[in-house]
Amino acid sequence: MKKVCIVGASGKLGRYMVRHALDKGYEVVGVCRKKSVGKLDAFRDRITIIPGATNDREVIRQAVADCDGVLVVLVPWGMHDYASGTARAVLDFAEPEARLVFSCGWHISRDGQDVYSRGFKAIEKAATWIGRALRVVDIRDQVKACRMIFGSDTRWTVVRGSDLEEGESEGLPVWSRHVGDSVLASNKTRRIDYALFMVEALGNDALIREAPAIVGCKSPSALEAPSALERTGT
Ligand SMILES: NC(=O)c1ccc[n+]([C@@H]2O[C@H](COP(=O)([O-])OP(=O)(O)OC[C@H]3O[C@@H](n4cnc5c(N)ncnc54)[C@H](OP(=O)(O)O)[C@@H]3O)[C@@H](O)[C@H]2O)c1
Repeated sequence: MKKVCIVGASGKLGRYMVRHALDKGYEVVGVCRKKSVGKLDAFRDRITIIPGATNDREVIRQAVADCDGVLVVLVPWGMHDYASGTARAVLDFAEPEARLVFSCGWHISRDGQDVYSRGFKAIEKAATWIGRALRVVDIRDQVKACRMIFGSDTRWTVVRGSDLEEGESEGLPVWSRHVGDSVLASNKTRRIDYALFMVEALGNDALIREAPAIVGCKSPSALEAPSALERTGT
């Protein structure tokens, strides 16, 4: 892995990914909205920034050229297919052999085998309804984006994040194929470690065409159920 594009580089997750990717010695190209370029000032001299909407096909075509890896923050903002437009452009324009790693939440299910608590389902339903009513967030478009990725024959990974918190790194999160696995019960991951998992996934072929649901490696459920874990890189 030499050159990596980070789509959505200026957000909280994106900036952590920029830092991890630079730490690994990768050349980094970041895509972010024009108004957010300043949020990348700390990295200005070390990365190439391509300003623009992440669902702008021309912006993505230019950004992913010659990249061995593409890290994509999939966000369902607005009512104009932002997440699915971003995913479509990345799938269409990334180099054929590139590793593509997308972020989303536990609410995305690849095979319908995930088991969600009543509370989780209620929150998701409310968020979907409120987001659409206010026309600010369209969670169904993130679902559409992931369906598109799951149907693709590219070298993708969809990393499904638990609830996130800030704080120092605890190490690489652990993962399971299905929400409902006891190892995930704590439902908490440090955002810095979510970013670490995304960047490490670029070099982990075992995660190709997987949709790992992750949780912090130091969370109580991860510590209590070590035998149930499917670990990356260990
Ligand atoms: N938050 C959680 O608890 C949680 C839980 C599980 C999974 N996840 C997943 O983690 C990823 C990162 O989420 P995050 O919550 O941590 O946020 P984040 O990293 O701060 O990312 C938010 C992204 O959305 C962009 N954005 C914000 N407002 C926008 C708008 N109106 N139009 C277009 N783009 C806009 C931001 O760009 P700018 O820098 O330009 O504002 C940024 O790239 C997502 O894939 C999410 O599904 C989050």
